Amino acid sequence: MRLSIQLPGTGERVSEIMIEEGAMGRVRGDLEVFLGGRKAFWIWDENVASIWTERARGLGWPVQSRDGAIRFRFAESTKRLAGIEMLARELIRAGADRGSGLVAVGGGVAGDMVGFLAAVFMRGVPHFQVPTTLLAQVDSSIGGKTGVDLPEGKNLLGAFHQPRAVWIDPRFLSTLPPREMRQGMAEVIKTAMIGDEVLWRFIESHSDAIRRREAESLARVLSACCLFKAHVVEEDEKESGRRRVLNFGHTVGHAIEKASEYSIPHGDAVAMGMMAATSLSVSWGRFPSSDLARLERLCRAWELPTRIPAALTPGTILDALSADKKRVSGALHFVLPVSIGKTVEVMDPDLNDLEQVLKSLAG
Ligand SMILES: NC(=O)c1ccc[n+]([C@@H]2O[C@H](COP(=O)([O-])OP(=O)(O)OC[C@H]3O[C@@H](n4cnc5c(N)ncnc54)[C@H](O)[C@@H]3O)[C@@H](O)[C@H]2O)c1
Ligand SMILES: [Zn+2]
Repeated sequence: MRLSIQLPGTGERVSEIMIEEGAMGRVRGDLEVFLGGRKAFWIWDENVASIWTERARGLGWPVQSRDGAIRFRFAESTKRLAGIEMLARELIRAGADRGSGLVAVGGGVAGDMVGFLAAVFMRGVPHFQVPTTLLAQVDSSIGGKTGVDLPEGKNLLGAFHQPRAVWIDPRFLSTLPPREMRQGMAEVIKTAMIGDEVLWRFIESHSDAIRRREAESLARVLSACCLFKAHVVEEDEKESGRRRVLNFGHTVGHAIEKASEYSIPHGDAVAMGMMAATSLSVSWGRFPSSDLARLERLCRAWELPTRIPAALTPGTILDALSADKKRVSGALHFVLPVSIGKTVEVMDPDLNDLEQVLKSLAG
């Protein structure tokens, strides 16, 4: 499947998205076309390089351009400005210039960092993504949000910089640990809940096939999620309206991550956040409780938590929420489902109602 993102007013395609088995084998050739002979530097997640370099050679896939490849230990702990400086210096030593293209090969951390590096390197160079985790394939590689963390919080330094192309190869998922599959599935379930009832039913009936990484099921999930995200980004690149729908489950989810001092992984926190937002909707009579039970079953099928650990009291979560509210925009935007595949946005919901919901989810 081939998709493109076309931003209004620009009249041109900013991102090409290719989703297919073996897409990785085309990267080098496609890059030469995109860059018209200018240099390309592949930047690999160290871990992915060690798992995939030999495998890729065995499949006949090129793993670097003629200009070279670098490896970096991408992790949330190295997603910092210091990492950007190290990478930039390494690129300069390798001969990169202002026409060079940068290619991220790895998960969301690699994509966010290489994208940000590309936004600032020599005042901006093109970048390309080869996402290798489920989360990166369905979410972070699309849409052009790039950045690094500060000790004060995640993704606080960043830029919008759309990748020129994204090659999504489901084969990479064959080596992804189950824990990372689960984290990505939280975003897949989110996508289905906010915009794709057909995808929802597909995941309900094909979770085992997806868990076994069966090619057809993966292709279906990846294309549905990318199609949805690409549409949303086209409508609202900079998140002033429509793109906020992608935050379903994330308002409470981020507060939970923060209140747990980031000991709870993002996907787990999003699952709890989706349960909270959906329960709030149910408590207002705006969402059927039988469908809340379906969300709960689906999360459980993926071993995603549906209850909030007792140590995280509603008070600590609400405190983290209000800190976010001050920092972000002065208002809490809540995305609430009204049916599977459809949401509404509610500003500043009654926090007493939310507190009741959080109490009911304590487990
Ligand atoms: N830009 C966006 O729109 C956006 C959206 C969501 C998340 N994010 C960011 O994405 C990051 C999380 O991304 P992630 O979940 O991909 O984490 P990650 O990049 O840390 O990857 C998770 C782990 O999987 C390993 N890995 C990657 N591909 C593999 C493969 N094919 N086989 C085996 N192991 C593999 C990595 O080495 C790493 O250890 C966060 O920093 C988050 O802020 C960005
Ligand atoms: Zn997320």
